[in-house]
Amino acid sequence: MHELDVDDPASAGEPRGRVTFGPVDIGFDDRVLVPRPWTIAQARWAREMLQSLSVGDVLELCSGAGHIGLAAVHGTGRRLVQVDQDEHACELARANARTAGVDSDVRCGPMTRALDDDELFAVVIADPPWVPTAGVTAFPDDPVWAIDGGDDGLDLARECVQVAGRHLTPDGVLVLQLGSVEQCAKLETTVQACGLVTAETRTLDGGALALLCRR
Ligand SMILES: C[S@@+](CC[C@H](N)C(=O)[O-])C[C@H]1O[C@@H](n2cnc3c(N)ncnc32)[C@H](O)[C@@H]1O
Repeated sequence: MHELDVDDPASAGEPRGRVTFGPVDIGFDDRVLVPRPWTIAQARWAREMLQSLSVGDVLELCSGAGHIGLAAVHGTGRRLVQVDQDEHACELARANARTAGVDSDVRCGPMTRALDDDELFAVVIADPPWVPTAGVTAFPDDPVWAIDGGDDGLDLARECVQVAGRHLTPDGVLVLQLGSVEQCAKLETTVQACGLVTAETRTLDGGALALLCRR
């Protein structure tokens, strides 16, 4: 599925590989995660939710090269805001948005500081690092800072739930990626404290998804 152009010296300084991810063409390199094919399920679920929410913007937290959010909104005309704290990932996300013809506002910084208080979103997509610190050595090809979720793997997932709790519209939804449905269950205290409820979970080939909405 990956079409790497690593042999092309003309591509120096440009994304090292390209991949077709649903409806979008994505550039990436070894300073971000290689787009994982199974995560297209997260984009599709978010896109499906948009069909039942006639208005509202889309927020993607921990966007990396931006492919999940771009595949979710491509062709819908929805406004997209993408947040990642890594400057290089943000540059790739901006380039990928241009290629996809999506008008995306890519913001570089910690998710807790990237939004104005009054910004609301119909759909929030979040793909935080979710590997427990002790387990990151099992993924030697991945940048540690992109996958390390702290002791129980949920430090950043909790932040995503808190941000969603503050910035979802009343009928909005959060589509959250985690490593397993067991991790989803461990988030329950935070979910409830933020006034949200877990409506559904799904197991995927490489992880899990949870759909959260307001209580
Ligand atoms: C698991 S990667 C997901 C990236 C992308 N969605 C993908 O599928 O490749 C997690 C991303 O979260 C970003 N990140 C980590 N902590 C963050 C924070 N506090 N605020 C915003 N982004 C953060 C990392 O820079 C990394 O790009």
